[in-house]
Amino acid sequence: MVLAFASIASASIDFSSLPSHPRLMFTDARVQAVLSMNKTDLYYQSVLGYLQKTANTAIATPLSLSASTSWSSTIRMNVGATAGMYRLTNDSAYSDWVIETILTIVNLSDWNPSNFLNTADITMTVSLGYDWVYDQLTETQREAIETAISEKSFVPALNSSVNSWSEHTNNWAQVTHGCLIIGTLAIGDVKATLANQIIDFSLPKLNVSLQQYAPDGGWVEGYSYGTYAGIFLGLMMGSLDSALGNDLGISSLPGMSNLGAWLTHGFGQTGGFSWADGAWTFSNANSLWSVGYWATRFNQAGWLQGMLSRFTAVQAATFQAYLFYSTTLNTTNVLPGMPRYDQFKGVAGMTYRTSWTNSDGWFYGFMGGFNGRSHGHLDAGSFVVDYKGYRWAELLGSDSYSLSNYFAAPKRWTYYRCRSEGANTLSISDKAQTALHFANQIPSANNSLLWAGSFDSSSRFGIANLTEAYSNVTSSVLRGVVVLNDSQLLVRDEIIAPGAVDIAASWHTTADITLGTDNRTATLTRGDIKMELKILRPSNAYLELVDTNPCNAYSGCSEMTNSGIYNVAVRLSELTTEATILLALTESGTSLEDFDTPLKSWYSLCTVDCWKGGNVGDPYWLENSEVYY
Ligand SMILES: *[C@@H]1O[C@H](CO)[C@@H](O)[C@H](O)[C@H]1NC(C)=O
Ligand SMILES: *[C@@H]1O[C@H](CO)[C@@H](O)[C@H](O)[C@H]1NC(C)=O
Ligand SMILES: *[C@@H]1O[C@H](CO)[C@@H](O)[C@H](O)[C@H]1NC(C)=O
Ligand SMILES: *[C@@H]1O[C@H](CO)[C@@H](O)[C@H](O)[C@H]1NC(C)=O
Ligand SMILES: *[C@@H]1O[C@H](CO)[C@@H](O)[C@H](O)[C@H]1NC(C)=O
Ligand SMILES: *[C@@H]1O[C@H](CO)[C@@H](O)[C@H](O)[C@H]1NC(C)=O
Ligand SMILES: *[C@@H]1O[C@H](CO)[C@@H](O)[C@H](O)[C@H]1NC(C)=O
Ligand SMILES: *[C@@H]1O[C@H](CO)[C@@H](O)[C@H](O)[C@H]1NC(C)=O
Ligand SMILES: *[C@@H]1O[C@H](CO)[C@@H](O)[C@H](O)[C@H]1NC(C)=O
Ligand SMILES: *[C@@H]1O[C@H](CO)[C@@H](O)[C@H](O)[C@H]1NC(C)=O
Ligand SMILES: *[C@@H]1O[C@H](CO)[C@@H](O)[C@H](O)[C@H]1NC(C)=O
Repeated sequence: MVLAFASIASASIDFSSLPSHPRLMFTDARVQAVLSMNKTDLYYQSVLGYLQKTANTAIATPLSLSASTSWSSTIRMNVGATAGMYRLTNDSAYSDWVIETILTIVNLSDWNPSNFLNTADITMTVSLGYDWVYDQLTETQREAIETAISEKSFVPALNSSVNSWSEHTNNWAQVTHGCLIIGTLAIGDVKATLANQIIDFSLPKLNVSLQQYAPDGGWVEGYSYGTYAGIFLGLMMGSLDSALGNDLGISSLPGMSNLGAWLTHGFGQTGGFSWADGAWTFSNANSLWSVGYWATRFNQAGWLQGMLSRFTAVQAATFQAYLFYSTTLNTTNVLPGMPRYDQFKGVAGMTYRTSWTNSDGWFYGFMGGFNGRSHGHLDAGSFVVDYKGYRWAELLGSDSYSLSNYFAAPKRWTYYRCRSEGANTLSISDKAQTALHFANQIPSANNSLLWAGSFDSSSRFGIANLTEAYSNVTSSVLRGVVVLNDSQLLVRDEIIAPGAVDIAASWHTTADITLGTDNRTATLTRGDIKMELKILRPSNAYLELVDTNPCNAYSGCSEMTNSGIYNVAVRLSELTTEATILLALTESGTSLEDFDTPLKSWYSLCTVDCWKGGNVGDPYWLENSEVYY
């Protein structure tokens, strides 16, 4: 495959011509825009009101931080909220607290360079605080801060005996290099030599990682690492825009402009479609606010509204709301007409929802995916399902990162949450499988999303080719997921194997479960909603509540015990060379249609917005991406 790369401008910034402070996003012009929106936009006024409460609470409590190892993102959030409130009010109660806080951080003996994610976060926090309260700092205080950023961040970043992190091509790159670049924009005019060294060092490395957003903006590490990387990427791009008047070409890298779509569509009724090591719940909009950057940068009202509609005003009140909100993009409600689905070839994932404006219907996310990449699990073919405001099929996220060799194969592939059994996908073996010992997928497999499309305006399907994941025991494995007529969700698996195999399909849920007497149905209950999970075929399949506690399988186990999490798995009563499994989820009392159509015909039934991903054998981000096997 021949691919054209757009490229980042070669690394050269004239730091002597940086504009005066504040130059990092919250410029005087932005302050005027925010104050003017506060007068006319009642929603925004309430968000700013909550931000003011956060700032008022922060200034009532002096920061106590005696070591950089106890750094927390709350400090970043409080500095952002408070320094921003100073910008809006000129009230020195806010700037005094910010100055005291960043000088406390400046005084720490180091910024924890052995965990450079912390160093980077601290660098950004101090840089924004310094820039936003610059007019209140004495010359001595400015110098102390500039020196600390130089010596506690830039110098260790460039020190080759301690900067092995710098070659990471996963979320680390956006966080570390992104924050370093923000630091150069804050102090580059007074520390030009070091700042230029940082740009020469960080930009090409960041550039490698950013290639992985190609071609359509998805992030391979899954939704929560995508949002985490996005926090810093959005703030860096916003800082480049305001300090330089351009973003060095970053926004024109392939896929980059569409990251806002991926982040917007990846959020369901209750949380994200988070595969791999990521969690799916979000307590506030902090990690999603970068959507506002993409929305305002690319004039996409639907992205901003789609993201904000998932949060209350108090949850939306994090400091990024000062920077990335636009009344213009939130004046006409565009959500009723916004596409309710999207798919992303680069991560082989798709989502569908019945509505953006209420949670009465469905949301699902489904993926093929490229196993074994950074933070990856052997989870290709997995889905999550929301209905009426509850999650009915969920992915469990990570186990503890301190488990022995959690990030090293083959040990990683023994941990329940990293294994295929611990995801919502198939396990296929040439022998009968027992609970907690289901077979894994092949770690290096590339599992494309082949097709996606709609039969009509109230259905959408996706089909993934999982053949490579089981190629040691099968010759073809396809899985399709569809919501039909907005009333039922079907999962269809078609497996062909050269020799007889045992097939099991995991489905994890925290709902209460009652199995029907023939073990062909299960009732799932959450709140006042009951759902029926039903096997439609084959006739020798049954549902089994498979043990989810890995510590029942071996002694000395320190894995999570998954209490309250059930695996209601489809099992077959015998080994077979060919199987079609059809599983349906409906709300109790809804009639069920037996849609017995082979997967290869789904695409020919597609009438609306049909999409082909094809077999992507060699996604071009692969070459430099991190692997864990
Ligand atoms: C925003 O407007 C409200 C209502 O007029 C006002 O009380 C508040 O002080 C304003 N906020 C800022 C930061 O100016
Ligand atoms: C804050 O002070 C600056 C400098 O005096 C002034 O330009 C700006 O208008 C003031 N902002 C507010 C909200 O009063
Ligand atoms: C930082 O250290 C200096 C020099 O030791 C000291 O004067 C100052 O009070 C400290 N500031 C804070 C906020 O800890
Ligand atoms: C680089 O780091 C090593 C290990 O901490 C340290 O010994 C050395 O002095 C550092 N070099 C510079 C230039 O700071
Ligand atoms: C970014 O990567 C592309 C593709 O490898 C390359 O052509 C370009 O020169 C790189 N830019 C920088 C600043 O490293
Ligand atoms: C702006 O977005 C918020 C959050 O989704 C929403 O509550 C509000 O109605 C929107 N404002 C307008 C004018 O559409
Ligand atoms: C096929 O590969 C998977 C993943 O490595 C492994 O779990 C399984 O045991 C293998 N099956 C056979 C029959 O070798
Ligand atoms: C997935 O694609 C990569 C890159 O082409 C290749 O190295 C790897 O072998 C493929 N995996 C399988 C299981 O074929
Ligand atoms: C699925 O992938 C396999 C392995 O890459 C390929 O041989 C096969 O043709 C694909 N199936 C379909 C239906 O595209
Ligand atoms: C949707 O429902 C209509 C009316 O009940 C039915 O005719 C149609 O076949 C259904 N569509 C699908 C894809 O099942
Ligand atoms: C259903 O499963 C339970 C638990 O495994 C088992 O005891 C029971 O015999 C099964 N019932 C049927 C009809 O297979």
